[in-house]
Amino acid sequence: MTQEAHVTQGPLTTETGAPVADNQNSETAGVGGPMLIQDQLLLEKLAHFNRERIPERVVHARGAGAYGTFTVTADVTKYTRAAFLSEVGKETETFLRFSTVAGNLGAADAVRDPRGFSLKFYTEEGNYDLVGNNTPVFFIKDAIKFPDFIHTQKRDPYTGSQEADNVWDFWGLSPEATHQVTWLFGDRGIPASYRHMNGYGSHTFQWNNEAGEVFWVKYHFKTDQGIKNLTAADAEALAGKDPDSHQRDLRESIERGDFPTWTVQVQIMPAADAANYRFNPFDLTKVWPHEDYPPIEIGKLELNRNPENVFAEVEQSIFSPAHFVPGIGPSPDKMLQGRLFAYGDAHRYRVGINADHLPVNRPHATEARTNSRDGFLYDGRHKGAKNYEPNSFGGPFQTDRALWASTAVSGGTGNHEAPSHAEDNDFVQAGDLYRLMSEDEKARLIENLAGNIAGVSRDDIAERAINNFRQADDDFGKRVEAAVQALRPLCA
Ligand code: HEM
Repeated sequence: MTQEAHVTQGPLTTETGAPVADNQNSETAGVGGPMLIQDQLLLEKLAHFNRERIPERVVHARGAGAYGTFTVTADVTKYTRAAFLSEVGKETETFLRFSTVAGNLGAADAVRDPRGFSLKFYTEEGNYDLVGNNTPVFFIKDAIKFPDFIHTQKRDPYTGSQEADNVWDFWGLSPEATHQVTWLFGDRGIPASYRHMNGYGSHTFQWNNEAGEVFWVKYHFKTDQGIKNLTAADAEALAGKDPDSHQRDLRESIERGDFPTWTVQVQIMPAADAANYRFNPFDLTKVWPHEDYPPIEIGKLELNRNPENVFAEVEQSIFSPAHFVPGIGPSPDKMLQGRLFAYGDAHRYRVGINADHLPVNRPHATEARTNSRDGFLYDGRHKGAKNYEPNSFGGPFQTDRALWASTAVSGGTGNHEAPSHAEDNDFVQAGDLYRLMSEDEKARLIENLAGNIAGVSRDDIAERAINNFRQADDDFGKRVEAAVQALRPLCA
């Protein structure tokens, strides 16, 4: 669909459909006199205009979206009973919103930042949302740290700008971030476009099959366009020249019929492996190395339709990691558990209590049958149906079958750290990632990190940050330190 298809016919009207005689001159008392309160068109236009914005997302405010199709390419019924995954060749409509994390709504696209990869599957058993990123890991491993972390990425309360001091102070004091920071300052930290990057579910999720057996799963969406990235210098130039570069690229490629696709893979861990796996399988700062659990191809995702209205379909779209369907559920990952609350709460604040009823958000392959009613902008869809359950009037009923299987727990309540497994520490996978890089990649990583850390105003903050890289790999730490020293001599 292109913009030309959206022409409306007939005279301009007020909000209530009355024809407008003059949309150029407001009504005044005499020529050159003050304006009149009876000019309904003027009042309506000014008042509506004042209310055009809703709160932007507190993170991932800047984004672009498109509809598409997910097609199953492998039989996974022995792992999950999810209906949309039940048959090879089965197609499900999707909506995918890409985003950057830290910038405000009008920020430039070509920046060093993770990219959001929020995917909604409109399945016949309800909408399933996978709200991931273009990185397989994250900076922290407990939801309680998320507001502090994001405060360091957003604008400082005093300067009103993003501050290198805050960013590196937090990362230096949160050694578990070292893996994700190493990833972010490497080549993949600035994708060339949304089409040229992978997506990941990042967390571990539960799949359960008809027999009730549990599997732990990680999702990977591998771009078929090939990975393409921007260097820091190219990104800086592009961000100034075309702040909307990612958004434009996605829309234009779909308009010309060049539909981007991703090959969908999963890593699958039988539930019995989890307790003794070498890493805590629910720790979001770690990957499952592919030699332990090789990715299996299960599907293809294609984006093939642009939204017709960006505000209605992208700004008002809502995604929640808590939107599961039968056969899929959460894991005990403490980040995921926190997110199960955070998103619904954000939607009710940002879009309103009836956000789920909007065309982009409601189920497309089934209907929502709830007894929730009314609230701001309720559209009366339930007409006169009874609004309680159980009822004797043929109303919707419970199924007595949980979406996901139960998992065992033990011990007392408390502010517990997630369990540490045999090879867990904050640095091991950051070091592995560094050692995997070619010499050229390492050189760019060091340059990117040093250029950023050199902007920190205090030596102790810079040194603590560098020390984390030293612990990941001695050569890595030494090289970052030397490169920072060359730009900004440290006192130590
Ligand atoms: C406990 C940690 C986290 C919390 C509390 C949190 C909270 C939020 C909130 C409140 C929003 C705005 C939602 C809205 O207004 O509609 C959001 C957006 C988003 N978050 Fe998180 N987040 C967390 C971690 C993560 C992680 C680990 C990922 C990726 C793996 C992620 C990916 C996203 C994405 C992609 C969006 C944009 C959703 C959209 O396109 O509408 N977040 N997050």
